[in-house]
Order: sequence, then structure tokens, then C-alpha cells
Amino acid sequence: MNWENMWSANGGLQQGQAFDASQASKVLTNLLDSGDLEIQGTKAFVPGCGRGYDVIELAKRGATATGLDISSTAVKAAEEYRDGAKLGEVASRALYRCEDFFTTEAPQGGYDIVYDYTFLCALPPELREEWAKTMARIIRPGGELITLIFPVGKDPKAGGPPFGVTPDIYRELLTPQGFEEVSVEKVPESLSHRDRENKEFLGRWKRSS
Ligand SMILES: C[S@@+](CC[C@H](N)C(=O)[O-])C[C@H]1O[C@@H](n2cnc3c(N)ncnc32)[C@H](O)[C@@H]1O
Repeated sequence: MNWENMWSANGGLQQGQAFDASQASKVLTNLLDSGDLEIQGTKAFVPGCGRGYDVIELAKRGATATGLDISSTAVKAAEEYRDGAKLGEVASRALYRCEDFFTTEAPQGGYDIVYDYTFLCALPPELREEWAKTMARIIRPGGELITLIFPVGKDPKAGGPPFGVTPDIYRELLTPQGFEEVSVEKVPESLSHRDRENKEFLGRWKRSS
């Protein structure tokens, strides 16, 4: 997949087109509303952030949030979206980097929270083990990986992206890398983006020390 081309072709990927959902994941906002995730003052990270809606949501709740994308056009779109959103001081904590996830360096001590939505499923399946190893490398011991597992139920032979996934695939990838399963729950229809209902699970994984 040529992601830069996906972002830049035909005048550029607009809000609401293809995978761009025009808003933060409702699952993430619901989790943050629940108070069940310590977010204030944390270092949060969103790989494959696209236009950065989830980065902004994490920054609004008090994190210093870094979004990373391999496409320079995506990063430019994210910065423009942030700068147009009149976020005040929150904007200074919504940061973007144009880099490859697999070679990115974590800040001193590692990230506290990583949010992965439509990132693992965007990668060719042969990169999945490296995805898990990179997560273990960049998340601090005791830190949390939050995965919105999508698309569940898609035939793995159907190709992608998005490539089909299951909660068990995440378990098989993350357990050998030292992640403990905190919870895996089906996402209620009301919290999914349009056309993604009944295809999503929320997984929470703690990196053991
Ligand atoms: C399916 S899109 C999802 C974007 C965003 N999470 C969203 O929900 O709107 C996947 C994103 O991952 C980025 N990407 C793909 N491979 C990457 C890599 N190796 N490192 C960093 N970003 C990557 C793509 O450019 C693309 O923006």
C-alpha cells in the first residue's frame, strides 16, 4: 500500500473519505469519560494517526499526545486540522511526527499509553510480529496499549487493507512480548463509527515490567 499516494491523490484525502471518520473514536471518548484510564499528564502515542482526531482527544483530556504517520501529507492534514480547531493551549500538547512506526524512538522512559485504531489492520500481516515487538519497545513497563480491534469477522483471505483481525490474533501477538490482557470487550453498536458496527472489540493490554 502506498500511503502517501492514498493521502495525496485526487486533491488529497478529505474528511469523511475512505477510513477518515471525521471525529475521534467514540470508544476512546467513552473510555476517557468513564474515568477508568489515568490520562492527565501522561505521554500518549497514536501510531498511524491520519488526521489526528484521536490525538486531539487525548490532548484535550490532559495528555501530551504524539501522533505519527508515515505520510507527510497525512501529517500536514493533521497539523492543519489541529490548527483550525482553535484548541488553545491543548494544541501545544497535540504533536505530530512523520516517521515509520517500526523505527520510531520513544521519549525517555517510554510512552504511558498507546492507542491503536485501524493501524494494525492497515499493515500487511507479515509485519504483525514486528508491530508487537515495537509496541513492547516503546511502551514503558506498566504502561498500557489500547487497541480498537477492527475489522473482526472479515475473511483473513480477503486481503486488505484493512486486513481481518480477531481478539485472538492480538493475544497471540502481544502475550509473547510481555503484555497482560486487562480486558477485551465487544464494542456496543452505539460506540462504533458508521458501517463498523459489530466488527469491533476494545482490547486493553498492560506491559508487565
Ligand atoms: C487506515 S489509516 C488510519 C488512520 C487513522 N488511525 C484513522 O483512524 O483515521 C492507517 C494510517 O497508517 C499510516 N501508516 C501506514 N503504515 C505506517 C507506518 N509504517 N508508520 C507510520 N504510519 C503508517 C497510513 O499513512 C495511514 O494514515
